[in-house]
Amino acid sequence: MSQPRNEIRTQSRSRVGSVALVGAGPGDPDLLTVKALRALASADAILFDHLVSDGVLAVCPRRATMISVGKIGHGAHCGQGEINALMIALVRAGKRVVRLKAGDPMIFGRAGEEIEALTAAGIEVEIVPGISAMQAAAASLKVSLTHRARARRLQLITGHSHTGEIPDDLDWRALSDPATTTVVYMGKHWVGVLMARLVESGVEPSCPAAAVLDASRSSERIIRATVATLAKAIEASKSAAQCIILVGKVLETRHDGPAEPAAAIRSRARSPIAVSMPREVATVQWRPASDTAKHRRRFVREPV
Ligand SMILES: C[S@@+](CC[C@H](N)C(=O)[O-])C[C@H]1O[C@@H](n2cnc3c(N)ncnc32)[C@H](O)[C@@H]1O
Repeated sequence: MSQPRNEIRTQSRSRVGSVALVGAGPGDPDLLTVKALRALASADAILFDHLVSDGVLAVCPRRATMISVGKIGHGAHCGQGEINALMIALVRAGKRVVRLKAGDPMIFGRAGEEIEALTAAGIEVEIVPGISAMQAAAASLKVSLTHRARARRLQLITGHSHTGEIPDDLDWRALSDPATTTVVYMGKHWVGVLMARLVESGVEPSCPAAAVLDASRSSERIIRATVATLAKAIEASKSAAQCIILVGKVLETRHDGPAEPAAAIRSRARSPIAVSMPREVATVQWRPASDTAKHRRRFVREPV
């Protein structure tokens, strides 16, 4: 029998514990994959980072134990060892665990450490990819990151090493290639130094650069500049939002639409999506943002 179009069905699962590293995407819950929704819908425990948006948290089933393991600024947080140990303990207790990570779990998401720890404990890990901040930024800028007339390489770098400083082993020669698009994650703090080093390495100061703040979220903001002016423009924004930086000739073209998203997109974002599962699993109702504050209050719950 065919299923109604707007219904997503999960298969009944046994009570053997399992774990999936799931990409939460950049913030807009509409960017969650169907596979991510399925994993969330059947989860007993969801360990989430602080970058996971309220909109995504709102689609998590209310019966799941929500465990915040993220670090905000220099505040208290769960260490990586504790997160690994918690996941292992939950799986061994027969729970279906989702480790919910912002963007894609395999891009600057510490997935490697978690996969290693779980595998070493004899636990098989499923990976559910997500939309990374880079893809959300490219969509917002309406820029093809690999436009064949302007870029033959796409490189992703971190602007923040494990010591908290700009990595000292970046390949500046590769970064100065005029036919490349460079995407910098975690680069806001050191953007001035990064841009200056690019110019020292041979990048034209007039080379286009952009920052997308809170990509895909209602608070999204785009800053267009050049390598010479980007740092000041970001500073002037006085924004505390998440920030992804892009540099390269692909940004020369602009396809700006209206400042406001089209009416069709706005109304789609408001409409609830029913996600129904077999009765023994759960039923999840996508709730518009207004309901998320109430839902978030439920998050302070004991681990299962
Ligand atoms: C620890 S990395 C996680 C990246 C994530 N795994 C991904 O694939 O997007 C955090 C960095 O991702 C970028 N980021 C994440 N979400 C973002 C968003 N919605 N808008 C802009 N940048 C974002 C920022 O550079 C932030 O400092």
